[in-house]
Amino acid sequence: MTLTITNIKRVGSDKTESVTVENGKIKGWNLPAEGDVLDGKGGTVAPAFLEIHAHLREPGQTEKEDLQSGLAAAAAGGYGTVVCMPNTSPVIDDPALVRSLIEKANGLGLARLRPSAALTKGQKGEALAELTYLRDAGAVMFTDDGRTNENARVLRLGLEYAKSLGMVVSVHAEDATLRADGVMNEGPVSEALGLPGNPAAAEAARIARDMELVAQTGARLHVQHLSTARGLDIVREAKGRGLPVTCEVCPHHLDLTDEKLREFDAMYKVAPPLRTQADADHLLEGLLDGSVDCISTDHAPHTRAEKERDLLDAPFGIAYIEVAFPVMWTRFGEKLGLPKLIDLMTAGPARVMGWPVPTLDEGENADLVVLDLNTEREVNPAEFKSKAKFTPWQGQKLRGFPLLTVVDGKVAFQRA
Ligand code: DOR
Repeated sequence: MTLTITNIKRVGSDKTESVTVENGKIKGWNLPAEGDVLDGKGGTVAPAFLEIHAHLREPGQTEKEDLQSGLAAAAAGGYGTVVCMPNTSPVIDDPALVRSLIEKANGLGLARLRPSAALTKGQKGEALAELTYLRDAGAVMFTDDGRTNENARVLRLGLEYAKSLGMVVSVHAEDATLRADGVMNEGPVSEALGLPGNPAAAEAARIARDMELVAQTGARLHVQHLSTARGLDIVREAKGRGLPVTCEVCPHHLDLTDEKLREFDAMYKVAPPLRTQADADHLLEGLLDGSVDCISTDHAPHTRAEKERDLLDAPFGIAYIEVAFPVMWTRFGEKLGLPKLIDLMTAGPARVMGWPVPTLDEGENADLVVLDLNTEREVNPAEFKSKAKFTPWQGQKLRGFPLLTVVDGKVAFQRA
């Protein structure tokens, strides 16, 4: 199959160009148009984004999201590849399940699925899952995300096995005993609202412990969704020691703070919680100075009825994979600059995973996104492909919406 996208610009260039893709590869630039011809409308072309942290809820929680809706949402957000999390029902800890998810996703023609698998059976934190078989089935990462790895000895063992398999382990770094029943950041806002708080120390203490396990094992560990300044500083220090540690930050921890909880709206309830402006500023510095490796969303859809519950009872999670790039570009584009932002959503996650860094050179995989960097659009969740048709950014005017996402040389999303 051949496809030519005309009227596009490469990052950092004003030249209008075209790209032709054939059989899943980039055939070349500025060739005579061939096959289906699509107008890129003057948009900026980049490698399709990589999402290494999203909850697609299949199997078992498909009232929240499923592969079809989640991978369509990802494609609409400009993502070509998604690493889904295993905290499903049942938990993704079974090689046959990994295979069946990949097979199902392959038939959808949306974003590509690369499942992660649980590090421990049932994500119970007790016995390790069948890591070798899970890797052989196609799992690309081990994680008990959604839960915290309370048992350090089990995590140590998991790291040792993962290292021998050449795999990365990612961790939801919160000390559950410190987090306790906290529903939001512990601080003046939680005190004013009379809500149980989750202290910054829950994250920092857990990351500090995990850095020692990395030092002990030499295994690759990725810290998910950093939310605190102190957490980042501990990762920075570990990197300074030469430890094989990587970390991510999510747009919601950059653009939203615990002030949002003042109206008791569970839409802003997420784990780890929204912190303070000082934390958000520090995390942004981490993106700028390279101590944060990548941006991921932790797209965590729930039903509207669940998120409309009382703040104490509602589940944790914010869903917004479709607008993650527009949020980052509109709010932080000036500070970060486009090349850096795109790097954090393409090369950055690829490096974390140990995958080749995607480029748009001839012969490369034809996974690309065309972005409309200048037009303001209002975020209208009714149009979301995700089943979660609400988001903290609804009604806001953002720039940077994807116009077109191509995965494996085929159109996975095209804005109407
Ligand atoms: O807010 C969150 N939601 N954090 C997690 O770690 C899990 C996720 C979910 O699965 O809903």
